[in-house]
Amino acid sequence: MLFKLITVMHSKPDLFLRQSQSQRKSKNSGRVFFGAVSALAIALAAIPLTSWSEDSDEEPLDYSKLVPAVDKQVDFEKEIYPLFKEFCIDCHGPKKKKGRYRIDTKEGKGGAFKIDRDGVAFIKPGDSKNSRLMHMMCDMIDEMLMPPPEADQMTKEQIGLIRAWIDQGAKWPDGPIKEYIQQIDFKKDIQPILEKNCYSCHGPDKQEGDYRIDKKEFALEGPLYGTLIKPGNSQRSALAIIAAGLDEDLLFPEKHKLAEKELETFKLWIDQGAKWEE
Ligand code: HEC
Ligand code: HEC
Repeated sequence: MLFKLITVMHSKPDLFLRQSQSQRKSKNSGRVFFGAVSALAIALAAIPLTSWSEDSDEEPLDYSKLVPAVDKQVDFEKEIYPLFKEFCIDCHGPKKKKGRYRIDTKEGKGGAFKIDRDGVAFIKPGDSKNSRLMHMMCDMIDEMLMPPPEADQMTKEQIGLIRAWIDQGAKWPDGPIKEYIQQIDFKKDIQPILEKNCYSCHGPDKQEGDYRIDKKEFALEGPLYGTLIKPGNSQRSALAIIAAGLDEDLLFPEKHKLAEKELETFKLWIDQGAKWEE
């Protein structure tokens, strides 16, 4: 009822102005009255009229599905952000912004702390039970399981870590995340690493395994692996796994292993979007 009244006041301000004018016989006080009423209406309209759990058409949430939080202090940059990176950023990061949502940044209205249509925050610091992200990750909202069923799923332990992080205040340091502070430049930082470590077998003169890495047009796909780089996600990029010496399927995994510092730079470059300027 109140809502209807407000709607009418917005759509037919003249009606209200006229009424208040005739009541008060003064144009000015009518304006003041209307001003006050519309300020009230705006204030009221800003309060969501229904919340998801009460008074809405949606099924009530089944809180028994919530995965328990792990019982320890968690670190955002070491434990939480890497999970977002591994499981979410392919679809919610620099490349794709499914559902107009990004989880590689907390900035902006489409950022990690976005508020949804019902006025519920995806991440509500201190309150994982009422954080929409948790409802999605614990399959409490019909057809909104995140990551979606066709994508790799997280373990309960990993979900429990995110839950604990939210309950502990969802601390997300201001400014760029550490890995984004050092801006990697392909020509200056990456090409020399590839030249030194890979060109002898995958360069202009020799192409072991029919693969070459000295030109972008050949480097992004391999005959066996197909897509080798997922921009924004080093954890899911075959090339980063190979360059860590961790791919046991190769004949010489150890010949593919970069020095620690080089590997870090290489992964950072992929996490920053793998821009390859020739
Ligand atoms: C394979 C792609 C994919 C992955 C991986 C993925 N999502 Fe999604 N996500 C989507 C799509 C598509 C939508 C839009 C669905 C819709 O609106 O029906 C979506 C929607 C969302 C929304 C709602 C955005 C809005 O404003 O309505 C949130 C929040 C979300 N995802 C969080 C996550 C989180 C957290 C992860 C990782 C744990 C994740 N997603 C992983 C594809 C993905
Ligand atoms: C001493 C030679 C040698 C060096 C150095 C070397 N590779 Fe290889 N690489 C090979 C051989 C041989 C194969 C073929 C298949 C195998 O081992 O199973 C291969 C295969 C690959 C493949 C598989 C492509 C596909 O889809 O089939 C990739 C990717 C790759 N190397 C990347 C690299 C990178 C990146 C570096 C540098 C960090 C590197 N390699 C350094 C010898 C080398």
